[in-house]
Amino acid sequence: MCGIVGLVADEFQVLELIEALEKLEYRGYDSAGVAFLKDGSVKVYKNKGKVGMLRESLAASLSELTSTGIAHTRWATHGEPNDVNAHPHLDCSSKISVVHNGIIENFRQLKARLKEIGHNFVSDTDTEVIPHLIEEYYNGELLEAVRKALLRLEGSYAIAVVHADHPGVIVAARKGSPLVVGKGDCCTVLASDLTPLLRYTRDVIFLEDGEVALLKRNEVKVFGIDGLERTKSYNTINWSYESAQKSGYKYFMLKEINEEPQCIVSVLAGRVSSGKVILEEISQLEGVLKDSQTLKVVACGTSYHSALVFKHFVENNSDLTVDVDVSSEFRYRKPHIKPGEILVAVSQSGETADTLESIRLASRCGAKILSLTNVVGSTITRESDCVLYLNAGPEISVAATKSYLSQLILLYLLGLKIVELRGNWNEKSNELLDKILRLPEVFENVLKRSEVVESIARKYKNYRHFMYIGRGYGYPTALEGALKLKEISYIHATAYPAGELKHGPIAMLGPEFPVFAIAPGDSLVMKMKSNIIECKSRNAKIVAITNDANHEIEEVVDDVIFVNTTAEELYPILMTPVIQLFAYFVADNLGLDPDKPRNLAKSVTVE
Ligand code: F6R
Repeated sequence: MCGIVGLVADEFQVLELIEALEKLEYRGYDSAGVAFLKDGSVKVYKNKGKVGMLRESLAASLSELTSTGIAHTRWATHGEPNDVNAHPHLDCSSKISVVHNGIIENFRQLKARLKEIGHNFVSDTDTEVIPHLIEEYYNGELLEAVRKALLRLEGSYAIAVVHADHPGVIVAARKGSPLVVGKGDCCTVLASDLTPLLRYTRDVIFLEDGEVALLKRNEVKVFGIDGLERTKSYNTINWSYESAQKSGYKYFMLKEINEEPQCIVSVLAGRVSSGKVILEEISQLEGVLKDSQTLKVVACGTSYHSALVFKHFVENNSDLTVDVDVSSEFRYRKPHIKPGEILVAVSQSGETADTLESIRLASRCGAKILSLTNVVGSTITRESDCVLYLNAGPEISVAATKSYLSQLILLYLLGLKIVELRGNWNEKSNELLDKILRLPEVFENVLKRSEVVESIARKYKNYRHFMYIGRGYGYPTALEGALKLKEISYIHATAYPAGELKHGPIAMLGPEFPVFAIAPGDSLVMKMKSNIIECKSRNAKIVAITNDANHEIEEVVDDVIFVNTTAEELYPILMTPVIQLFAYFVADNLGLDPDKPRNLAKSVTVE
């Protein structure tokens, strides 16, 4: 995700802001910028690319002294990564400067209104509405102007604001995006995580949603959004720099799995309103989505598995047929694509060579390309007609975890949009959308069970083979579970539709070949149960994931992990962290580094 830092002191060199920003580089970003107060004005430097480039362009000013500064690393969500869209952003008077993490969902309405009353915008970002709103409310009181502006914002944010007329002051606030503030000797500091703070202090306050902080050289005050001051206590941090980068998690993979509830919030932001799915980005494709007979989808690896869930969902809930292909196969077959048809490309990186070549092939046949990716400005997005962004923030660990989860949610939203466009919307669609909106809370609950997953992983870590089985919606989950296990633990793991066992794979099973069964209490539960019994009678050990209303599965398995009960369609989402955590804990307990699996790269830009 984006990173924010801010520093107030009697005097410090601009270089300190750059050094603080460098501590946030591990989070991934595409542009960087800094704003500091000097001689009664705000100086802003920013550019696309690395903090190192910012350091170079600022070379002459690095030793300049200031009392107040903010800085930012941006991961593009609204507007391409370029110099203008980089933060900090300014108001019309160039006195107010803001850095922001998160997404302002109602920025289009706010921007239109602010333009009407004369504000001038220069970027494509959602963030730029914030300094202009503050400018609107400012009458000498910065804290109050920020508070009033925040009341107009819908969405999520962590912000830091400086004003040319208020040296020695930063106003910061958070809602749905982390922000930590700290008080050192004769300075105060803030950042979106602990790493930049550790140089100055170990005493920090983690702001809560709806809180606004006022930082001055010698004090930090925290207020509610109602303007009332709150009493906060400092937490003393004993983390090393290395563990602070990972927010205390041992590996990025574990951190990223634990970020999944936040990813659900981000991917849903601005996309559901009054009981309907809003996907403005694809409005030009609506006619084709309404009338086509089939929809083609291409993807690789984990993204292919999310596309398979999409196929089940759309076909079970509408009259549209969905053909899903592995990109490396699709691109070498004769394309049966007619001009005007849609090809959907799913790729978290937006750079995967085979998926890119597939969309080029389809484009040459006259197809419209709809891509789902996490990286704004990536090659696939530049060659697509429409793009839906995952907004999952950067994923550092090589194995896809939170991006898979975000793909699933976005594909369900796309599926529901198709259901609506084709006139297949019914009461069940309402219920599904409602359940999707309530996923973040349910998800926290699933993550709380990670100790159970760890103890089972420890028990099974020394097996050299695993067979994952599932039916219906459970089959893509089985494929993804097996992929996660093999890529980070190097244990041979294979996946089959459970009904296929008797056609060959069951011959492999025995005491040395355990089975991981994706077995929710859905319409196929009795079929799954009998498949499990077949495996059991070959003396295979069985681990199962099911839901907490399906205790009868316990009779036939060795170990079981429960998730909350939900709609049959949504188990692939709820079971995602379980298969990921299982693979993670096996790898960790084998002493392997799950963040850097051998032979693998985060983006596969060659065939
Ligand atoms: C597995 C994994 C890979 C990718 C695949 C496609 O954890 O990350 O299987 O899913 O290489 O990558 P994208 O989605 O970037 O096209």
